[in-house]
Amino acid sequence: MNEFILEKIFNKINIIPPFPKTAHRALELLRRDEVDFRELEGIIKTDPGIAVNFLKLVNSAAFSLPQKVDSLLKAFMYLGIDQIKLILLASVTGKYFSQNLTGYGVSAKDIWLHSIACAFTAEEIANELRLPPEKRESLYIASLLHDVGKIVLDLYTNLEEAKFYEVSQENPSYDFLQVEWLVLGVDHGLVGGYLLKRWNFPEDITFAIRAHHDPDLMLQKKMSAIVALANILVNLLGLTGGIDAFKYKVPEGLLEVIGLSQKSLEIISHKVLKRTVFLETLLV
Ligand SMILES: [Fe+2]
Ligand SMILES: [Fe+2]
Repeated sequence: MNEFILEKIFNKINIIPPFPKTAHRALELLRRDEVDFRELEGIIKTDPGIAVNFLKLVNSAAFSLPQKVDSLLKAFMYLGIDQIKLILLASVTGKYFSQNLTGYGVSAKDIWLHSIACAFTAEEIANELRLPPEKRESLYIASLLHDVGKIVLDLYTNLEEAKFYEVSQENPSYDFLQVEWLVLGVDHGLVGGYLLKRWNFPEDITFAIRAHHDPDLMLQKKMSAIVALANILVNLLGLTGGIDAFKYKVPEGLLEVIGLSQKSLEIISHKVLKRTVFLETLLV
């Protein structure tokens, strides 16, 4: 590991705002069987930035509400739990995915779409596997933020897309993980995992992000295997997160570690496609 580069990056990393506790708490509440909207309102109101953004998105054309909504409680009543969660995440993550990542060749909108679609996919996989609620929450957040390291690297290393192509061509047998190491001395999984550790995210989430392109690491835990698979599926569905989309090794046994059949993969992909069609209208 190139300590110098990591050091240089992480000295500046505090500039990135931490993932809000409000969002953690609201997502946790939305996992319950019975959601108390007043309690949810109380939580969201503790972060005025999120609350204002939430109302702005609810009133956007995507939801075509019959009238303008000016209170959170009213907004919750119009929307189902899935939509509340979607708007919450869109309003929280928007600030991370607000710039084009030119080094990785992806626009702000597309990396956002890729990240949210990845969280949907992981959620559908979790449903299929009937994972317990606390595991689902960690999985959801890990998938949503799996590429956050790209943002850090793009912002702080004067990354050039051409450099990735050049190094790839010089080393045709290398996958993108190896190319990233040659170009940057780190990879975006490692950087993302480290960032989330500094934000005090639990170990299962930081490990899954760290491991999402590493063929050996991702098989060590079910959660990292699911995040890796969700990323692959979302890329295959055309919601790519950059020039690296199809340039990684997929280890044998990924589906076996997760416990998924080919058939359930097809069902999951279909569900994700349906959910992302709506998402695209929201982000236009
Ligand atoms: Fe990635
Ligand atoms: Fe990704």
